[in-house]
Amino acid sequence: MGTASLALFLLLPVLDPGAVQGEVIQDLNNCSWFFQGKTPPQGFDTQNRIKICQRYKNHYHFVTLYRTDLRIPVYSAYRYPCTMGVDKKRRPSPWFYEPQIDDPRASMEMISSNGTSSGNQAVDTDYQRSGYDRGHLYPFSFNSNDSATATTTLTNAVPQKHKANENWAEEAESIVRKLAVECHRSGRSMYVVTGSANSTNIKLKNKIVVPEVAWTALCCTSPPDQNNDPCLNNNLQSERENVMMYNKDFSAAFRKRMMPEETTVRLTVRELQEQLGVVKMFESCRGTSADDEAETFKEVTMLIAQNRGDSVSKWSWVFAVVYCLLSELGLKWF
Ligand SMILES: *[C@@H]1O[C@H](CO)[C@@H](O)[C@H](O)[C@H]1NC(C)=O
Ligand SMILES: *[C@@H]1O[C@H](CO)[C@@H](O)[C@H](O)[C@H]1NC(C)=O
Ligand SMILES: *[C@@H]1O[C@H](CO)[C@@H](O)[C@H](O)[C@H]1NC(C)=O
Ligand SMILES: *[C@@H]1O[C@H](CO)[C@@H](O)[C@H](O)[C@H]1NC(C)=O
Repeated sequence: MGTASLALFLLLPVLDPGAVQGEVIQDLNNCSWFFQGKTPPQGFDTQNRIKICQRYKNHYHFVTLYRTDLRIPVYSAYRYPCTMGVDKKRRPSPWFYEPQIDDPRASMEMISSNGTSSGNQAVDTDYQRSGYDRGHLYPFSFNSNDSATATTTLTNAVPQKHKANENWAEEAESIVRKLAVECHRSGRSMYVVTGSANSTNIKLKNKIVVPEVAWTALCCTSPPDQNNDPCLNNNLQSERENVMMYNKDFSAAFRKRMMPEETTVRLTVRELQEQLGVVKMFESCRGTSADDEAETFKEVTMLIAQNRGDSVSKWSWVFAVVYCLLSELGLKWF
């Protein structure tokens, strides 16, 4: 190899469009309101990571920190309530991807990954016939309309075995959603950060790393400037009319090793931070320091139990009404 070609060889990795390492694709100021205190989680590595303000149909819907070396997200940060766009939610096929990861001049918005390939991110064909689900970090079911549709982008997905994905939905995602509704009832907003950690040595298409752990951290608190908050600037759902049941800030965290048989563990945000080796998930939230975490943990345990009780009592109420109606009609069968 001559000197000239050697020089070219050394330059190549730099010229590779994949060399967007650590670069901010879009100004995070444009979507900082997805973070509690408008401050991103602190202490995550920056090497080979890019920040994505997730844009779809002219709105920002969430933020993702993405690893171009593993082709999976580190985390997605999102909120409840936060439903933007007037179109009904849908699951596009194939999923979206982020064209700016490969070409900074490309569309700012996520677009279909149909017919694409990339060395820096996953595209839909990478998951086909792999035996793995495209496991959402920000769940499809959490908000509505275009905000839900925008979660079906591969920069928000990690490979998960189907059963493990289902168990995570039941053991963590559904509980987080109920806590978010509860939080909103008291006039607050839920800030959530959901991520992956600890690589296995399994790779899809010799490219996409399968992580070992899924985790999520939540903070229920009042957003700073409610009149100027894009997430609150739309038609708020009806839970707000419900009676206030719990009137305090709180935080909580969940973690699961993504083996189907291993159950999800609930822990405090501080414990999760320690396990991830990061500094701070939220700028300031009740229950994230050694002083108030034990008390908050207990309260969240009660909230979760109460939510389970809620659905039971709702059904017994429906049952009672039906029974009375039937009695009125003289239909006594027991
Ligand atoms: C993002 O913010 C920058 C300035 O911080 C602004 O110039 C740019 O237009 C914004 N992008 C969008 C899509 O709003
Ligand atoms: C969601 O979409 C429906 C129509 O599909 C619309 O009526 C509703 O206002 C939208 N919600 C928000 C918050 O924009
Ligand atoms: C994907 O692209 C192929 C060829 O470019 C086209 O035939 C097909 O209809 C596209 N599928 C979708 C869902 O857009
Ligand atoms: C990742 O693995 C290390 C070593 O086994 C462990 O200490 C750590 O808790 C794991 N991280 C998470 C988030 O589970």
